[in-house]
Amino acid sequence: MPPREKQIYQMLLTSTKSLLWMALLAVLVSTAVLSCNGNESPAINEGDPLHRANPLIPPTELGLPPTPTAVQKDDLHFPVPPPPFSEDIYPCSNCHEEIVTNPQRRILTDAHEEIIFTHDEQNRWCLDCHNPEDRDKLRLASGQVIGFEESYRLCGQCHGPKYRDWKAGVHGKRTGMWNGKKEYLLCAHCHNPHSPRFRPLAPEPSPERPEAIR
Ligand code: HEC
Ligand code: HEC
Ligand code: HEC
Ligand code: HEC
Repeated sequence: MPPREKQIYQMLLTSTKSLLWMALLAVLVSTAVLSCNGNESPAINEGDPLHRANPLIPPTELGLPPTPTAVQKDDLHFPVPPPPFSEDIYPCSNCHEEIVTNPQRRILTDAHEEIIFTHDEQNRWCLDCHNPEDRDKLRLASGQVIGFEESYRLCGQCHGPKYRDWKAGVHGKRTGMWNGKKEYLLCAHCHNPHSPRFRPLAPEPSPERPEAIR
């Protein structure tokens, strides 16, 4: 094929692929939503594997403490520490109230020059995540506006398996009681949303041998 045609063909191929992925995502999300709504049984408790294995037997009859009520029941809101903003940047509306949103993909020169954007940068731009109408909020692909303290939902749109692991306390950092109150670190506490690769840590020096201390 001549190079021009080949380019067009490849563009078509990638957009068809992403359409298919979006369709798959939509199906997955709707089944997830359905299964959450369908699950009315108050006896089923996330943090309690024994109890979950026997949803019909009250925990007290298994010799376990009564079902704790403080356990996270909804799947969207998690207690987190404040988002890790730089000093004096938030509220964004301090400046943005006065600035007309420029949706053009461009190199920023009048502010935010320090942001290095290397996060799927071929396909993404600031306003895929930041809400153009109210800069103090984020915006999901669905159009739903969310606060910065819920940014995990933004990340979870594209990083489903990591989001699932994070909710389960397998990825990231969760502290608190195994069967009670918990606190989660936001993805943004560890990953810079603009260049999210986890930066390598410099290793600590090895411990001194006892001989060397004597
Ligand atoms: C993948 C989604 C995403 C994209 C794309 C994105 N951001 Fe962000 N940005 C975030 C999130 C999430 C935070 C909040 C981090 C936190 O909790 O401190 C943030 C924080 C910021 C902040 C505050 C930074 C600070 O120092 O505290 C600024 C300014 C910002 N973004 C501007 C931009 C600009 C400009 C672009 C485009 C070049 C952009 N963002 C692209 C998700 C995104
Ligand atoms: C000190 C003033 C100031 C603050 C505070 C500020 N911005 Fe901006 N921001 C600007 C200016 C000025 C531009 C336009 C830069 C350009 O065109 O080169 C801009 C551009 C942007 C853009 C690119 C899209 C657009 O509308 O031009 C995003 C996204 C953005 N800011 C996000 C944020 C977020 C998120 C925060 C808060 C966490 C924030 N900004 C806080 C001054 C500010
Ligand atoms: C619109 C989809 C989308 C959203 C939203 C999104 N990501 Fe990503 N992310 C990607 C894609 C695609 C890649 C792989 C390409 C790349 O690394 O540039 C990626 C890569 C990553 C990586 C691996 C980087 C590396 O180089 O190994 C991390 C970590 C990450 N994202 C974290 C986040 C966090 C944290 C958020 C929320 C603030 C987020 N992502 C939101 C699409 C997304
Ligand atoms: C406590 C810190 C921490 C938190 C919180 C955290 N991560 Fe990570 N993440 C890491 C580390 C460490 C790695 C591994 C980096 C490596 O292997 O080089 C990683 C890796 C990743 C990767 C790349 C995996 C790969 O295969 O290369 C993605 C994507 C990612 N995290 C997404 C997320 C998302 C989405 C969230 C929030 C829902 C999140 N992370 C929360 C620390 C964290």
